[in-house]
Amino acid sequence: MEYPTKVLLFFLQFTILTLHIQALDQTNSSKPQNSTTDPYKLLHIIQNPDGSLTRIKDYYPTVPPNTSSSISFSKDVPLNRDKNTWIRLYLPNNSKHVNLPIIIYAHGGGFILLSTATPNFDSFLSNTARQLGVLVVSVEYRLAPEHRLPAAYNDVLEALFWVKGKKDEWVKKYGDVSKCIIMGESAGGNIAYIVGLKASILTRQLNPLVIKGLVLIQPFFGGVTRTRSELKLPDSAGLPLVITDLMWNLSLPLGANRNHPYCNPVIGAGSSKLEKVKKLGWRVAIAGCDGDRLYDKQVEVFKLLERRGVDVVGNFSKGDYHGVFVTETTKALLFFEFMRSVFYSYLA
Ligand SMILES: *[C@@H]1O[C@H](CO)[C@@H](O)[C@H](O)[C@H]1NC(C)=O
Ligand SMILES: *[C@@H]1O[C@H](CO)[C@@H](O)[C@H](O)[C@H]1NC(C)=O
Ligand SMILES: *[C@@H]1O[C@H](CO)[C@@H](O)[C@H](O)[C@H]1NC(C)=O
Ligand SMILES: *[C@@H]1O[C@H](CO)[C@@H](O)[C@H](O)[C@H]1NC(C)=O
Ligand SMILES: *[C@@H]1O[C@H](CO)[C@@H](O)[C@H](O)[C@H]1NC(C)=O
Ligand SMILES: *[C@@H]1O[C@H](CO)[C@@H](O)[C@H](O)[C@H]1NC(C)=O
Repeated sequence: MEYPTKVLLFFLQFTILTLHIQALDQTNSSKPQNSTTDPYKLLHIIQNPDGSLTRIKDYYPTVPPNTSSSISFSKDVPLNRDKNTWIRLYLPNNSKHVNLPIIIYAHGGGFILLSTATPNFDSFLSNTARQLGVLVVSVEYRLAPEHRLPAAYNDVLEALFWVKGKKDEWVKKYGDVSKCIIMGESAGGNIAYIVGLKASILTRQLNPLVIKGLVLIQPFFGGVTRTRSELKLPDSAGLPLVITDLMWNLSLPLGANRNHPYCNPVIGAGSSKLEKVKKLGWRVAIAGCDGDRLYDKQVEVFKLLERRGVDVVGNFSKGDYHGVFVTETTKALLFFEFMRSVFYSYLA
């Protein structure tokens, strides 16, 4: 079932994931997975003979940074020219504030799609900066399959050192590198978690940058064994298994399956670095909702962190869908409230 392009573009103003919800609503969701459903078609991507992807541009609009706004200003700066990575910074429009906490952010898109400049991410981050009184450092990391994991993790880690170096005027003038939070949504939530683990053993090298916590918004995790929410939710809930399977196939290191710790953090009772995260006293916040196919794995990760003695706070609500916090303003406001309650001593 094809929608007119105009309608598709309209949906893309919100999120690629709600697009799927709309498109897949046309199928009978109580039927088992339709194995002939082509995830490449659903995602508007084409695999090239060399393994790279063509992401059909009409379906993946971006917006420029915003220099005049009553909410936040943004600008793009290079991170690593050799890798073609860059950063979009967001500064709230109430410039008398200095020493702002810094949120280092990774966007969603299953490791293979989208950008910090995707309209709904851009607008979410502009609001994040303003609502929480923070400087946002959003990383345009390398995508798979051209650059499989750990490329995205390494890019976000590199961004932490970039912040530490205070090479940028906004970071130097308005930021407080001793109050950093690593945050991400969907695949970005996964990135925030893994980069947090990597950074937990680099605290001396990162000094004077200090990480206060990790925020995982509907993080994208999985595993070989399907969870209940993966199996029971209809395709109309978005993120059908053909899509998440493809995303893992294209992003995990070659030869790895979905029990790789990049995908399934609960395997083997979790990373040994969680001991370090616990000792450092970082707070980990996880936001999810049970209308999201990824919900059960998110709860598993929450319980793992609890068991391992990490200071973890969950906000798991009923209903909704994957992508809701970066799509709906009212849900974003609830999420910001949750953030304030978790990081009450740092956030506005
Ligand atoms: C959807 O599929 C189920 C099971 O195959 C069937 O009972 C139901 O009538 C179908 N609904 C629609 C709207 O086609
Ligand atoms: C699966 O989806 C394709 C494409 O939408 C459709 O042509 C086909 O009839 C579907 N098959 C089943 C068994 O539902
Ligand atoms: C900042 O916000 C104020 C009012 O909210 C507005 O008047 C002003 O034009 C904004 N500044 C810029 C540079 O956009
Ligand atoms: C810039 O921010 C204003 C809100 O302050 C918004 O209306 C406008 O769409 C933004 N422009 C871009 C290019 O994002
Ligand atoms: C993912 O890879 C597995 C194993 O190679 C394969 O069986 C499966 O069809 C692939 N799934 C997708 C959606 O590409
Ligand atoms: C999630 O956080 C919001 C905002 O603080 C709060 O209103 C809501 O009750 C929380 N929900 C749960 C299930 O913890």
